[in-house]
Amino acid sequence: MSANLSTLQELPTDLDRSRLPQQVAVIMDGNGRWAKSRGIPRIMGHRRGVDTLKDLLRCCRDWGIPALTAYAFSTENWGRPEEEVEFLMTLFERVLRRERAEMMRENVQIRFVGNLKVLPQSLQDEIAQSLHETRDNRGTQFIVATNYGGRQDIMQACRAIADEVKQGLYSTDEIDEKLFERHLYTAGITHPDLLIRTSGEMRLSNFLLWQLAYAEIYVTQTLWPDFDREAFHQALRAYQQRDRRFGKVEGESSG
Ligand code: IPE
Ligand code: IPE
Ligand code: MG
Repeated sequence: MSANLSTLQELPTDLDRSRLPQQVAVIMDGNGRWAKSRGIPRIMGHRRGVDTLKDLLRCCRDWGIPALTAYAFSTENWGRPEEEVEFLMTLFERVLRRERAEMMRENVQIRFVGNLKVLPQSLQDEIAQSLHETRDNRGTQFIVATNYGGRQDIMQACRAIADEVKQGLYSTDEIDEKLFERHLYTAGITHPDLLIRTSGEMRLSNFLLWQLAYAEIYVTQTLWPDFDREAFHQALRAYQQRDRRFGKVEGESSG
């Protein structure tokens, strides 16, 4: 652990507690580059990335941010070498099993978004167990995007809605944004206020396309395994300097 992890236990004094994002989403990118720069296998980067995520989740709790969404595996990541995909699936499974007691102690409620049905059965079992055990926890909400694709999310919602129309549950002119959102994987979860992407890439890579419509985007060159509390502090500082207009005129009330 770096010194920052232990020194930034409290919300830094230059941040305004009343204007913290209610949900932060992270595209955890750069594990491979982190490993490459050290001349070690990519999978070592993924392993280190887990420690970063664990501390960020704890940091959200310490600083009073109620929800964190992490992009763990995209629908496009199946295109990676088989060994890497297999390693990631096994890693997710092991981490879920290993961290369950800790999540209970820290009152974390876990949720998953994405097409889980095609994941290895043993991983699906760990996911089900984690959902079950943490379902009544009311501390930090931790949303893990696994086999998630924004396009796939929107498409599966369309299919479900079309089915319900066909069943006669409602008519097409009753379809509005609220109804649509109830069919997304993220049903019931607030939209992210802040999106952080590590490693410098300026793209969404098919993450939460609908849900990020008005998120503030923060990109840092820092590689994911190096993204510590101080780096998060800087992201929150940048967020608090933004003027969120939501299409309105500066200074106007957003209500
Ligand atoms: C992100 O790091 C982790 C996953 C996509 C699972 P990468 O593996 O994409 O790292 P880079 O982008 O190759 O450095
Ligand atoms: C996005 O990172 C997906 C995750 C972090 C899980 P990628 O590394 O897969 O994205 P691209 O390929 O750079 O767009
Ligand atoms: Mg990448």
